[in-house]
Amino acid sequence: MFHNIDFDSIDLTQAPPAKEPQRQYYFIAKCRQYIKAESGRLGRSLTANVTTFGCQMNARDSEKLTGVLECAGYSMTDSEEADLVIYNTCTVRDNANQRVYGRLGFLNSLKKKNPQMKIALCGCMMQEEAVIEKIKKSYRFVDLIFGTHNIFRFAELLCTMFESGRPVIDIWQGTEQIVEDLPVERKYPFKSGINIMFGCNNFCSYCIVPYVRGRERSRSPEDILKEIKTLAADGVVEVMLLGQNVNSYGKNLENPVSFADLLREVEKIEGIERIRFMTSHPKDLSDELIQVMKQSKKICRHLHLPLQSGSTRILQAMNRRYTKEQYLALAEKIRKEIPDIAITTDIIVGFPGETMEDIEETIDVVNKVQYDNAFTFIYSKRTGTPAASMPNQVPSDIVKEGFDRLLKTVQDTAKTRTALLEGKTLPALAEEINAQDNTLITGRLSNNTIVHFPGAPSLIGKIVNVRLKECHGFYFLGEIADSPAAK
Ligand code: SAH
Ligand code: SF4
Ligand code: F3S
Repeated sequence: MFHNIDFDSIDLTQAPPAKEPQRQYYFIAKCRQYIKAESGRLGRSLTANVTTFGCQMNARDSEKLTGVLECAGYSMTDSEEADLVIYNTCTVRDNANQRVYGRLGFLNSLKKKNPQMKIALCGCMMQEEAVIEKIKKSYRFVDLIFGTHNIFRFAELLCTMFESGRPVIDIWQGTEQIVEDLPVERKYPFKSGINIMFGCNNFCSYCIVPYVRGRERSRSPEDILKEIKTLAADGVVEVMLLGQNVNSYGKNLENPVSFADLLREVEKIEGIERIRFMTSHPKDLSDELIQVMKQSKKICRHLHLPLQSGSTRILQAMNRRYTKEQYLALAEKIRKEIPDIAITTDIIVGFPGETMEDIEETIDVVNKVQYDNAFTFIYSKRTGTPAASMPNQVPSDIVKEGFDRLLKTVQDTAKTRTALLEGKTLPALAEEINAQDNTLITGRLSNNTIVHFPGAPSLIGKIVNVRLKECHGFYFLGEIADSPAAK
């Protein structure tokens, strides 16, 4: 998507510009020279791999890393046997960290076979001091480490790595800066995530995100709309607006704008057929947003509304700022206003002090709301968060029993909800060729349900009407329908 800059015409005899993004264009041009020289020496092109852990925000960041790498002259590969491997890390739960450490050992064995290989680490995990200390001590083969706040400087950091010949570590504690117009290479040609805000101000007591992603900052609506228009012109039909709490979008802008206002503007963009967003904090979900969703032809019939717990006592300790009753009332209002909407959620089991009675309250909410899908997590203690020093960490047998019971309830409601659609004909966005059976296309309904149906690869990126023939628990087998779909 970034073919409008001729990097080779940038004059590298001059000092680098101070202004962004021009400064990074300069360093991309410089990287191109190093990479060209190295590939000349080796007699082949250089390869790079970006491996992503964590959420949609990280996935979008990885597209930005890939954009820079392609402009710098790397050929991208899915294999970690590459000349440059970057892990874009997550630290929301400890198992995310453990996976990174485990795979670093494997990368070291690859580096021994290919000594000129470079290994880089970035993302949320790198914002933790203890992690940096551990890598410096036990993983000395890592060549470049940076964090979430200076990712826009990736090209510059790569250059420093090439020039210094020593490990480069650059971690910032925060930033006010939002740098626009850097290269991005999308994973899918027809859909894209768009950051509308960065960081989080909510400080839920279990969560590390505000510490590693910094304070909430919204992009200007003009920049967001400009980006979406460019994407639409480049063939994108579906956008996913990304933020840790999209419902508080725009509150801190010089000219405050609501999230509902932003959605109204995105709706007007020609070529965009579907609009999704993530994540909605229940405490900030406005009636205005519900009305905008209800009236919209483009906003998908899906709302991810993290519950975390159904016990008011635990919600209070989590600093979520709503009660069980308020959440239930909100979910009921949404279902009443938009009956065909799918509601999905996140739930944590094992928060400090949680008892079986609290978990029963959560199960009660699941039964009442009838979630279309729910992600259930076992509480993970994150250093530096208030919950980490709370007494009464929950014994593992209670966590296990509670988790299993919750999971069973969640699966039952999800299956019941999915089955309601059987026999209907609905529009699906054809997203990819089915991995198990290449005569099938995997599509996604507006409400986020997956349907597999026979079809040609040329359908990918198009919205087609599909009859939902057989419900298989959480997904459907279907067929393309000739008759028009009901919305
Ligand atoms: N901003 C989003 C969530 C981002 S993190 C929101 O507020 O909904 C994604 C999910 O990870 C959270 O919804 C929560 O369920 C889970 N999570 C966050 N911290 C966790 C922890 N310490 N242990 C277990 N799960 C956690
Ligand atoms: Fe974490 Fe809460 Fe912010 Fe979500 S809203 S990122 S759970 S602190
Ligand atoms: Fe993980 Fe960072 Fe996302 S901690 S969940 S990658 S914001």
